[in-house]
Amino acid sequence: IRVVVLFGGRSGEHGISVATAGGVLGAIDRSKYEVVPVGITPNGQWVIAADEPGRWAITDGKVPEVPASAAEVVLPLTVGDAALRVLEPGRVPTVLADVDVVLPLLHGPYGEDGTVQGLLEFADTRYVGSGVLASALGMDKHFMKLVFAGHGLPIGPYAVIRPGDWPVRRDVVRQTVETLGLPLFVKPARSGSSLGISRVVSLDDLDAAVEEAREHDPKVMVEAGIAGREIECAVLGGRGGARPRASVPGEIVVTDETRHGFYDYEAKYFDEAAVELTCPADLPDDVVKEVQEIAVRTFEAIGAEGLARVDMFLTPEDGVLVNEINTMPGFTPFSMYPRMWAASGMSYPELIDELVQLALE
Ligand code: DAL
Ligand code: MG
Repeated sequence: IRVVVLFGGRSGEHGISVATAGGVLGAIDRSKYEVVPVGITPNGQWVIAADEPGRWAITDGKVPEVPASAAEVVLPLTVGDAALRVLEPGRVPTVLADVDVVLPLLHGPYGEDGTVQGLLEFADTRYVGSGVLASALGMDKHFMKLVFAGHGLPIGPYAVIRPGDWPVRRDVVRQTVETLGLPLFVKPARSGSSLGISRVVSLDDLDAAVEEAREHDPKVMVEAGIAGREIECAVLGGRGGARPRASVPGEIVVTDETRHGFYDYEAKYFDEAAVELTCPADLPDDVVKEVQEIAVRTFEAIGAEGLARVDMFLTPEDGVLVNEINTMPGFTPFSMYPRMWAASGMSYPELIDELVQLALE
């Protein structure tokens, strides 16, 4: 079975995706799968990448990057190939033939958002994870919340700043945002790994936070800060009519709030001392059940397939609130998604195997 492990890509989370791929390349069962590592450079060039798991790790506070290479690849698209990709004259690309399944380990725009999924549908190639619509919903924190609300899932208060609202309707935006209270979280609508997110404790800082988010996406979300525990749950399955399964929940505890006011990019990947990922989370059985049930309903609400991590808040007054879903969650052996499955009795190699098998079903 030939598996293309696809990673890197044109998003701010390029390096995180490469690190995820390093973990998968080191653990995938080579006796069962013929692995072809394909990297996408930050500029969008698809290349045959080194099959060296160790090379793709986060080291010395630096994320790895897919280097440009002459070993360019194209997927054999059934129609419109020339329209999609214009190669320099004389350049002979490697055509990926007889691919059984693609494992798109891409985070963020141009990868986790339905674009690559659309390309793979177009090329009639099987792939791990959610399809076009669920991926797009999982990337867009605005439409994601509309779908959650439409399914009766519990969510927190928020406001949307559409591209045309800023700065033209700044005053209206301010009035709306004021009703949300403080603190606020200002986020690019379509991003990941907390890139571009600010925690705002005074409305004087709102404009700067909106400007920062807009560097990543012209559409901005403003969410009311939720006082509660940050609980996550991993969901797996969802193909062939069977109900997806939920893992034991985990918990994110920011242990040093002076360094990181929240679980930001630095705290996520470079400052292990500042956050604790507790797995399983210390929760009573009935709360575990509730968290798992809500995680599965969230997965089903957007029509996710394969895998997703559902991030929630456990609040004293409103119970469980859904924050977001991630259709390609961080997937190194140390990331929360695989750790929640390990705590549920499924090892990292077994998890990779199950995901590939689900895509082949
Ligand atoms: N976007 C990062 C990779 C996550 O959700 O884990
Ligand atoms: Mg996310």
